[in-house]
Amino acid sequence: MTFASETKRRRTFAIISHPDAGKTTLTEKLLLFSGAIQIAGSVKARKASRHATSDWMEIEKQRGISVASSVMQMVYRDHVINLLDTPGHKDFSEDTYRVLTAVDSALMVIDAANGVEAQTRRLIEVCRQRDTPIITFVNKMDREVREPLELLDEIERELGMPCVPMTWPVGQGKSFGGIINLRTQAMTVFESGQEKLPQDFETIPLTDREALQKRFGREFDHAMESMELATGASPSWDSEAFLTGKQTPVFFGSGVNNFGVMEVLDALVDLAPPPQSRTSTTLVNRQPVVKEIQPEDKDFAGVVFKVQANMDANHRDRIAFVRMASGRYTPGMKLRVQRTAKELRPTSVVTFMSQRREAVEEAYAGDIVGFTTHGGVQLGDTITDGASLQFTGLPFFAPELFMTVILKNPLRTKQLQQGLAQLGEEGAIQVFRPEVGGPMLLGAVGQLQFEVVQHRLKTEYDADIRLEGCQYTGARWITADTPAELRAFVDAYPQRMALDAANTLAYLCTSPYDVRLAQERFPKIHFHPLREHA
Ligand code: G4P
Repeated sequence: MTFASETKRRRTFAIISHPDAGKTTLTEKLLLFSGAIQIAGSVKARKASRHATSDWMEIEKQRGISVASSVMQMVYRDHVINLLDTPGHKDFSEDTYRVLTAVDSALMVIDAANGVEAQTRRLIEVCRQRDTPIITFVNKMDREVREPLELLDEIERELGMPCVPMTWPVGQGKSFGGIINLRTQAMTVFESGQEKLPQDFETIPLTDREALQKRFGREFDHAMESMELATGASPSWDSEAFLTGKQTPVFFGSGVNNFGVMEVLDALVDLAPPPQSRTSTTLVNRQPVVKEIQPEDKDFAGVVFKVQANMDANHRDRIAFVRMASGRYTPGMKLRVQRTAKELRPTSVVTFMSQRREAVEEAYAGDIVGFTTHGGVQLGDTITDGASLQFTGLPFFAPELFMTVILKNPLRTKQLQQGLAQLGEEGAIQVFRPEVGGPMLLGAVGQLQFEVVQHRLKTEYDADIRLEGCQYTGARWITADTPAELRAFVDAYPQRMALDAANTLAYLCTSPYDVRLAQERFPKIHFHPLREHA
């Protein structure tokens, strides 16, 4: 197979939903029907063990589980499909955002009874900002749910883009008869149960209208009417519009009953985009110049979108998840971390085929490669096999919650510093070191992040800490056009200056007015609510 066809046959997507809409179930069925796993239950079992306890600390202890199931690769119809899971809890929305920077499309799962829920809304916003193409799956049609027309209307409003139905439900709940496939003009008949494979469901062409009417009665007529209304009101399918995030194909089904799942799997192959180009900057005559990296480019280039500490506390190694943007990975190849210009020396390199971690033989643009290292790699790092460039677009958000770190046993200072540096590099939390000295500050977007970090500092670094509230409510990364302007600003607010894990200077605020006042006083200083890479 040629290089270009290897990249063209890849699909990399994230699965997004509000908790309980059926994301885990659908993930499992996609893996099952592509042949990536043999028995149902393995993904769910993992989730069950994650949910078995309400104690977050316990959940965090089982981090290895979420590592294993956060990236999954499958092969279907000769296509390599990379599925990236997104954390469900809103306190980890930063992680989710970063995962969404690593994909080319998203699969949105909606509970047909609940419509678009809060957490989904937040994720949609992120996709919209990036014009990520979204495939919509309306799940749980076997339950008493809302009218499909009403649901489409809501999805259109929430997404701000037209829906194009690809399948249409006949009835719902107890009278759920199946789905009409608009492309093949045939109805697939629903049967409940988990034993059936997608191809086992009976299909009847719409030309057999009498037979369908006889069998499904009013439900069928009603479905035909509403389907006509829906297709009349929606634009026709336009691949270009979908690929630029301007319309979404909608599928109906019931994940738990294996129903309507194959249509989604086929859509990933037929509709979802192959790896897209990625924006980077490179230095030409010492000036940063924007450079688009094409998936077919021969040189290896990728970006670290997630760093996760490994399970083995004795080794303190970490997996850097790299989304490949171009090139081909083969074992033993020499790679460099652009930020430090140092060689990446992984102890192992894995892909996530069939949910097992397997030594990688080769990988192409679109694939996710996990490099296990002892450090030297941070979130947002660009990895290449030589070329000097830096990918953009992996953001850190200015935290809104702050806590002061108090070490219980001062003899553990070294461990604390090491722990905070590593957790900061992982993006588990943001760490700020005040310029004037004093205790370190932790900044988070969600409250749970504090608990996780406190727990991990204790168990992984033997540093027992107490967290105390502090006066800060926000931070802005600051830059200036000239060093003199920056110095003047720093001198004016010495108590407010702090460096983050990447040694980027930030201004700490105690109220929303702070930034405005500081900006008025120093009009030439730039205040950034998010920072990209170091
Ligand atoms: P999540 O990952 O989005 O949080 O959702 P998950 O797949 O775990 O599904 C949430 C619940 O919804 C599960 O029930 C699951 O079985 C159920 N479910 C998923 N798809 C469908 C569907 O098409 N129809 C119906 N009726 N239910 C569906 P649970 O009671 O929490 O777990 P379980 O004991 O049934 O596994």
